[in-house]
Amino acid sequence: MQHAAVSSNHIVDNMSEDAFSPSALGTKEHWDTVYSRELKTFQEYGDEGEIWFGEGSMTRVVRWLNAQKAPLTTSIVDIGTGNGMLLVELAKSGYSNLLGIDYCSDAIALARNICDKEGVSPSVTLQISWAPSVLPNSLTSPWIKGPLTQ
Ligand SMILES: C[S@@+](CC[C@H](N)C(=O)[O-])C[C@H]1O[C@@H](n2cnc3c(N)ncnc32)[C@H](O)[C@@H]1O
Repeated sequence: MQHAAVSSNHIVDNMSEDAFSPSALGTKEHWDTVYSRELKTFQEYGDEGEIWFGEGSMTRVVRWLNAQKAPLTTSIVDIGTGNGMLLVELAKSGYSNLLGIDYCSDAIALARNICDKEGVSPSVTLQISWAPSVLPNSLTSPWIKGPLTQ
């Protein structure tokens, strides 16, 4: 099916639905491939892997929570936690009731390894789950960074 898009005085009528096809980032297969590779890299070289949107984004979250004077026992859920580095950062800042959810089992395995290495495992629970179906009722501070697949 052809669509028409209006740009200034020009009508562009050659844009097919393919132009709007979903990104690979929106598929579980993509994340399975990414975290299978990242887990192997961590096991071989100790490299934690990519932090999406950079380390600065984690610092901003922690600073924002601190500014809210959130109690350190606040339950915080990191949805699509990936390598769990945000949870590590939060645990190191004193937050102790942290849950990381990801549907990718290798991401959770990687996050578990990193939490162990960083000595923050007692503050962090990690769960292989498909969001949003599993979100706890008691949720007070959900945090999502990056695309989630429906
Ligand atoms: C862009 S990565 C972000 C990883 C990490 N939060 C970070 O900032 O570095 C997106 C993560 O969300 C996870 N994910 C995507 N859709 C999900 C869903 N519906 N349920 C659970 N996890 C999901 C992927 O497996 C991946 O780990």
